[in-house]
Amino acid sequence: MSQSRVVHNQWSSRLAFLMAAVGSAVGLGNIWKFPYITGEYGGGAFVLVYLLCVAFIGIPVMMAEILLGRRGRRSPINTMRELAAAERASPVWGLVGWGGVVAGFLILSFYSVVAGWALDYVLKAALGAFDGLNGQSAGALFQSLTDSPRRLLFWHSVFMVMTMVVVANGVRSGLERLVTWLMPMLFLLLALLVGYAMAAGDFARGWHFLFDFDFARVFQACDAAGQCHFTAEPLLVAMGHSFFTLSLGMGAIMVYGSYMPREASIAGSTVMIAVADTLVALMAGLAIFPLVFANGLQPASGPGLVFVSLPIAFGAMPGGQLFGTLFFVLLVFAAWSSSISLVEPAVAWLSENRRMSRGRASLLVGGLAWFLGIGSALSFNLWSGDAYKVFGKTIFDLKDFLTTNIMLPLGGLAIALFAGWAVGRRLSEEELAMRSPRMYGLWRFSIRYMAPGGIVLVFLNAIGVV
Ligand code: PFF
Repeated sequence: MSQSRVVHNQWSSRLAFLMAAVGSAVGLGNIWKFPYITGEYGGGAFVLVYLLCVAFIGIPVMMAEILLGRRGRRSPINTMRELAAAERASPVWGLVGWGGVVAGFLILSFYSVVAGWALDYVLKAALGAFDGLNGQSAGALFQSLTDSPRRLLFWHSVFMVMTMVVVANGVRSGLERLVTWLMPMLFLLLALLVGYAMAAGDFARGWHFLFDFDFARVFQACDAAGQCHFTAEPLLVAMGHSFFTLSLGMGAIMVYGSYMPREASIAGSTVMIAVADTLVALMAGLAIFPLVFANGLQPASGPGLVFVSLPIAFGAMPGGQLFGTLFFVLLVFAAWSSSISLVEPAVAWLSENRRMSRGRASLLVGGLAWFLGIGSALSFNLWSGDAYKVFGKTIFDLKDFLTTNIMLPLGGLAIALFAGWAVGRRLSEEELAMRSPRMYGLWRFSIRYMAPGGIVLVFLNAIGVV
């Protein structure tokens, strides 16, 4: 235990913590992933399950992560180990921290490729490449990008360097300034896009697609041709996404919590983060689906959905060149402030235990994630064939599935059990410092029974037991 030391700065204020946590949560998960998986899993029913997971699993688990992080004040690996020792629990809990570090690498190694698409689209938008696009030509434009290994690798590398530069500069100087004003801008631009979708898209159909709960579709998945089949996957994917979008289950929010000032309210911050994150996702959906329907695109067209549908709108609206450029710039920033948090647990650990400077640690971590990312970039072209697939999935899809749907919920389950059962009531009561004992009781019930029960049920359902 003693080999680690507290080497980290703290956020300068509660607002700085909040903005950084929102910066971590709001990212490609909201704007790229949420619409595309909602399209694949048939809309409203999927959205409802996702919202329930955010409310009943995500919120209590996020509170647990923040409280453990703030109590431990170290990287997740050391926080889990030291709290376990202090509470006389097994040192095995330290594995949760390690699992998070591995998940962070794997996520960054595909996240960075998608962020690279957004970088490429900044240029496209600025150069007026969206003018006069229709469903077909927008699809072709996207495909010409993913067909090119060179371009994907180039942008993947650029994004990785961007991430490492900020990580190397540390919490205070690197992050704080970046996120405080970008998030509100992204929000405004999304509102504008929703307005455009109301005027120019099939808004009613988009709305019904997102919010009509059709029980028959709970267990359905569709492909790009619009063919649907029965599967148990949607529940698992919706739950996994609730972890992914809130940055939970791998220590990212825990490590941010470890830099949180003591006086800030954990429950209040958590609710704000979850609400902001959910709003951004729903707004992205409301901007995209009306355009999808109005332009004859398939909701289930896969990972390219956002990159195909929004450019059509930018190509047709007045000022579209400016708004399109701004949108993709903000998307890059949103991805950037998330990717930083993906490597923070590893970098914090390296600087605590290996006495490495942040600069060196981020070089090491970024280099490895970059290398792992090569396979993700090639999944769309050279390695897209069956010969390169494992369980019928490309490397990209496999990493996404394994981390989002398995590792993060498992990490979340462990964190819930740790916070609810392994550590004493006094610790969480003190750290949460909630005004009403009732609210504390509600959280404690959620973290001991509801969240773990929900996660286990969804897992059992996915393997066909329930
Ligand atoms: N929450 C981010 C998003 O929605 O884009 C992705 C993410 C960041 C997942 C950090 C996990 C994490 F630890």
